Amino acid sequence: MKIPISARGMLERTGLVLVVLGLSSQANPAAFASGPEMAKNKQAAGKPKEPDTSKVLPNGIEVRHAGMLLEVLALRDDVLRVRLSSSGELPEDASWAVPAEVRHQRVEVTPDATADTVGFHTATLSVRIDRATLRLSTTDLEGNVLQEDADGWPAEFHSDAFRVYKKMPPDEHFFGLGDKVGPLDRRGQSFRLWNTDAFCFQESTDPIYKSIPFFMTMRAGRSMGFLLDNTWSTSFDFGKNERNTYSFGAEGGPIDYYVFYGPDPKQVVETYAWLTGLPPLPPLWSLGFQQSRFSYETETRVREIASRLRADRIPSDVLYLDIDFQKEHRPFTVDTERFPHFEQMLRDLKHEDFHVVAITDLHIARVPGAGYTPYDTGIAADSFVKNPDGSLYVGTVWPGPSVFPEFTQKKTRDWWGSLYKQFLAEGLAGFWNDMNEPSVFLTDNLTMPDNVQHRIEEPGFLSRTTKHLEIHNVYGMENSRATYEGLRKLDPDLRPFVLTRATYAGGQRYAATWTGDNTSSWDHLRLTTPMLLNLGLSGFGMSGADVGGFIGTPGPALLTRWTELATFQPIDRNHTNKGSGDKEVWVHGPEQEAIRRRYIEERYRLMPYLYTVVEELSRTGLPVIRPLFLEFPHATKDLQPMDIRAGNEFLFGPDLLVAPPPFPEQPEAYALKLPPGVWYDYWTGEKIQPPATPGGSGVTEPLIQPKLDVLPVYVREGSIIPVQPLVQSTDEKPQGPLTLRVYPGKDCHGSVYLDDGKTLAYTRGEFLRIDFRCAVTASGVELHVGERRGSYLPWWKAIHLELYDWQSPAAHVTLNHKPAELPDSVDPARHVLTLDLDDDPRGSDLEIVRAN
Ligand code: NOJ
Repeated sequence: MKIPISARGMLERTGLVLVVLGLSSQANPAAFASGPEMAKNKQAAGKPKEPDTSKVLPNGIEVRHAGMLLEVLALRDDVLRVRLSSSGELPEDASWAVPAEVRHQRVEVTPDATADTVGFHTATLSVRIDRATLRLSTTDLEGNVLQEDADGWPAEFHSDAFRVYKKMPPDEHFFGLGDKVGPLDRRGQSFRLWNTDAFCFQESTDPIYKSIPFFMTMRAGRSMGFLLDNTWSTSFDFGKNERNTYSFGAEGGPIDYYVFYGPDPKQVVETYAWLTGLPPLPPLWSLGFQQSRFSYETETRVREIASRLRADRIPSDVLYLDIDFQKEHRPFTVDTERFPHFEQMLRDLKHEDFHVVAITDLHIARVPGAGYTPYDTGIAADSFVKNPDGSLYVGTVWPGPSVFPEFTQKKTRDWWGSLYKQFLAEGLAGFWNDMNEPSVFLTDNLTMPDNVQHRIEEPGFLSRTTKHLEIHNVYGMENSRATYEGLRKLDPDLRPFVLTRATYAGGQRYAATWTGDNTSSWDHLRLTTPMLLNLGLSGFGMSGADVGGFIGTPGPALLTRWTELATFQPIDRNHTNKGSGDKEVWVHGPEQEAIRRRYIEERYRLMPYLYTVVEELSRTGLPVIRPLFLEFPHATKDLQPMDIRAGNEFLFGPDLLVAPPPFPEQPEAYALKLPPGVWYDYWTGEKIQPPATPGGSGVTEPLIQPKLDVLPVYVREGSIIPVQPLVQSTDEKPQGPLTLRVYPGKDCHGSVYLDDGKTLAYTRGEFLRIDFRCAVTASGVELHVGERRGSYLPWWKAIHLELYDWQSPAAHVTLNHKPAELPDSVDPARHVLTLDLDDDPRGSDLEIVRAN
């Protein structure tokens, strides 16, 4: 019987749930008792039950009790996998998110037992399972409780559904869950994960496009990660229904979750990437400015947009073709009436350094006998999803009645991947997988019926047929996987760029993403940052939001502010809906365009820094934009994550702090919060000292008066930021030196990473990496430029140094310990010393000493 969650809270408080859990081993806790039965069972309360059996394994423990089976395995000292079954049998060990070679990692554990608990410890964690109830708790080796099942049984079962309850201390905060709308901290909210075409979503809309059942907790400076690997409709409640409890559950499928420990939140993010995979290094051009609309409907219009971008000197790299470039909206076709010289257009645009991304939705028009290859070959290979009676499932989307590929089969994914052959040969650079929740028009549930059949034929899975309910949330991810893997196969040395709208945990291995159909409103501009931050924590470090808002037409100030913010987001794509007014950078006249251009130019100047951060993402999983607590987990005296009191601030890479007003339209001044330490104003170079109050928080709170043409950005002390001369696209070779902006301070370092930006040659050593270090000395600054690593040659021949906080009219310089006459100058007003030196592959040591 189903016990409503709110009722469960009440039952707990009266002790009745524990009563039910005291059932004999024959009883099935899945059959939750009704009121009178509970009263009857009450007599059994009070005496702890021994587990029926508990088996210590070399890498964990297995406990059977009251018909239940709980298995807790240590994959690493800091990573546990928890599986719990009410049937006494563990289900098939298969996963779309966590590869088998990761799932089957193991470390040896040391068994522990007390009068009340069984369990084990690793070198990092201690696991205890209550003998009477199977409640699981995890502590570090100092005994700090990291996570703990709520009082009662560890989970509640209602036929196929389950729910796991955990205690929620008052100072615990929650992050992750992908693109869910709302504040950065998920505490106090609840969410359902069911991929949904959430056109015109608002702050209260749930579910939306993606299902990433990962969250991380932050409490007292310690962070834990949780991944519920369950593809059914899942839900998460962080103290909304019960004040002191958080919980997660699903409508079906296994209780199979991973618990992993930091304590550093960065460690949790990296471990999540270890479990579910890293995003591939994207092509450099995808970090440039991207221009899109639904749709640039003709070849002429596409060419006009490209020419205007170049004529107005708006640095840009990418143009998008939305559904109207296709013939009758059929994926993998071109409307040759509107695009009469498609290939020539792509060649011409390439010549202008534009990369074109085309939409290729997953619905295939059901047009038998029309010579439409995707349909004909798909039918021949039996590649489409079927109804329970064996007939083809047909749903209406853009092309009209359509069929849907069976992405749960490797062979179907291979077939799908092969459909890209011609587009790739014609010169399209990237692909956009939209509508893949999957979105189906003219339905009540916006998608396929729950009982549509999927035939899983997949390495690592039992071949079986299952309902759409189980596959829905992974369908979009497997669509983007088919695209990515297909492109890799078609051109094995090329780095694909795939943009997907729907996805699941692990989808970052195949595609970048964006936040779907947002709105041209100030509110949506505000919502963008927490959405992208949580996506970044949830594996999707490469993500963006439609600049200007998809639905509606922004006014001048809104589009300008949005363009400024997107400069500091991983993907910077201006996009808009059919019927909305134009949103290109030049609308609203030259004054607004000049501000917008300045920001886009700054993104291109920062490209060496951005690419270095993105390369780090591809190695570690650390996102491009980061909440403050990720870099400063101990910033506040009370150890609450800084972000919950810091408006909409975020970090762009490790070193730049971006601080838009908490409400982007507000005219009033606002106090921003700079984490402890010295900061520099990115635009002026001004040094900002932390408050000297003894025993104070160390948090600096400058008051900012909003100005339309200024997005406040600050640089962390000890940063060395590589920047390049302005270019109009990432294909253009920068002319001039590599600039290193050095902001002296604690732990001063930086690095630059470079490669050809397109191919996988970097995996064969054709990359360039240089590390930099600096130190403040009694008389000035020492700077070490490391030797070049990798065989890729830089575009620069010289390094231009900008040393901030330089408090002297001149400098004496030694290069590699010998006095050197390097061209230098000092800007006394800004306290910046500049210095030029030749690039030396072996590296250079500079000592810069104050002189009068
Ligand atoms: C929905 C997408 O979210 C939007 O970005 C796109 O323009 C339309 N589909 C048309 O393809």
